[in-house]
Amino acid sequence: MEKSRVASIASDLIDAVQEICIKHAVTHTEYRAAIDFVSRAIDSGERSLLFDAFLEANVVASDPTKISGTTSQVLGPFYLPDMPFLKDGVMARKNEPGERLRVSGKVLNTKSEPVGGVELDFWQADASGRYSHFDGGVTPEKNLRGKIESDDTGDFFLETVKPAQYTIPDRGPTGLLLKEMGRHSWRPAHLHVIARHSDYSTLTTQIYFKGDEYLESDAVRAASADLAFSLTYDRDLASLSFNLVLQDIDSTG
Ligand code: BEZ
Ligand code: FE
Repeated sequence: MEKSRVASIASDLIDAVQEICIKHAVTHTEYRAAIDFVSRAIDSGERSLLFDAFLEANVVASDPTKISGTTSQVLGPFYLPDMPFLKDGVMARKNEPGERLRVSGKVLNTKSEPVGGVELDFWQADASGRYSHFDGGVTPEKNLRGKIESDDTGDFFLETVKPAQYTIPDRGPTGLLLKEMGRHSWRPAHLHVIARHSDYSTLTTQIYFKGDEYLESDAVRAASADLAFSLTYDRDLASLSFNLVLQDIDSTG
């Protein structure tokens, strides 16, 4: 009988763990400690963080259904669904601390044709590196989150503030493991966006800033140089411009 997909992957995973146990002469005490570690991470609310920090970038990079368009990136643990559409593309409050930033560009398909009616669902850290809802209520609910839509010519516009570089939560089990492995917990500054349209594959990506010192050493090993763009200035006003390219739904075969 042919093995199910779950059975094939689980068998390979178990074989890989077995190999590691042999290679490192893992003891039974260490085996129990590993289980306790994962349990502690889950009990302390780091279930998504632990897996997203160490594994999600590998899964995204090896996804065989992703063959064209803008590079995909990790979703991460700080996404919230069902955020509202923004009025005139304004995502930052008038008094939001930080450098005001105008974000614009076009949504295109792989033939470089503009795609209108694309829902762009943005979220980001604030100028102090905090995500609303995950910061113990310091920032208002839904802060620096919201949706816009590309117009008939594919154009989109968002007004926000420049997000800060931030450390992923590093005082719990995930941070402990990162430290043990000699890795820091900094992520380069970024905007998260999910692009949705019924005729195209949903794109989950992140936009970075050229010259960011953590592009090469992202704590979660996701950042990609082709997603880093330069800030431009018109007098004091900072702008960031980039296109998003969507993959046809049927190109996955
Ligand atoms: C993030 O960019 O929000 C993120 C991604 C993976 C792990 C932690 C945070
Ligand atoms: Fe993030």
